[in-house]
Amino acid sequence: MIDLRYRPRRLRKNKTIRSMVRETHLHREELIYPMFVVPGSKQRNEIPSMKNQEQRRADMLVEEAKAAYDDGVPAVILFGIPESKDRLGSEAWKNDGVVQRGIELIKKAVPDLWVITDVCMCEYTDHGHCGEIDPDTHEVLNDPSLELLAREAVSHANAGADMVAPSDMMDGRVGAIREALDEAGHENLPIMSYAAKYSSAFYGPFRDAAESAPQIGDRKGYQMDPANALEALKEVALDLEEGADIIMIKPAQTYMDIIWRVRQAVDCPVAAYHVSGEYAQIIAAAERGWLELDRSMMEALIGIRRAGADMILTYYAREAARNLS
Ligand code: PBG
Repeated sequence: MIDLRYRPRRLRKNKTIRSMVRETHLHREELIYPMFVVPGSKQRNEIPSMKNQEQRRADMLVEEAKAAYDDGVPAVILFGIPESKDRLGSEAWKNDGVVQRGIELIKKAVPDLWVITDVCMCEYTDHGHCGEIDPDTHEVLNDPSLELLAREAVSHANAGADMVAPSDMMDGRVGAIREALDEAGHENLPIMSYAAKYSSAFYGPFRDAAESAPQIGDRKGYQMDPANALEALKEVALDLEEGADIIMIKPAQTYMDIIWRVRQAVDCPVAAYHVSGEYAQIIAAAERGWLELDRSMMEALIGIRRAGADMILTYYAREAARNLS
């Protein structure tokens, strides 16, 4: 017999010792639940590619937000699908816009739930790009887009949002939003920036849910190339310099190395977004009986924590929170 001095299995004997030596923990406090809001004129819609997720009218949104809070989820992030879309996405900064109404109602019903808003133009523009486009070349114009995004962020803040999360990937948007928030008296409102956001096929189901697929071209001119890692560090550094309070990596499960590198490089909280396609692939496999749903989701989430994320945006937040209680 070989004389093994160190036998790792000694510390795997039973549940008790396994818990005692566990290195990473996922807590309910680290979960952020994304939700889709539609105007009152629209019906509640299921989203076929994102099982158990729905487009909700404000009243149903509040109900779901309350249920999530009762499950122990501390935060939600809201995405709006407006009544109508136009070239500049003007419904994004309407005082009584779909997200603005949603914020007000949620904050009234569940004041302690932390309400984050996604700040981007793609759900609001008729062309589906994340900023203003040149009508001839269809190029997304960087600096003119900053003004629209800043307006949207301020209007979310005015409606009572607790934090804004710009996801557009225009250069300089964190700085522009910070300045506009400060000018509007929201200097204490934090920004969670989608700092390293990749041009990913895994956003497919979300674009069904948010009705935000680009009508012409793609997002490669502003979202990051999946092959790049050093560039993520640069994006993160820029956003921090411009005033971001929390840095987000997105997607999560396909970009664990990026989460790890960023976690090593910064001293601010790091968030990771387990995106729609990453959620959908587990659900789809589970529906075929090829994966165990709950175990697979929880493994994905603990893996993202282990990679270094302090908080996770996930469509599985409610179920995960219930598992962790
Ligand atoms: C853009 C935005 C997207 C997601 C969050 N914010 C989609 C995109 O960039 O096309 C994706 C989220 C997901 O896939 O779950 N506003």
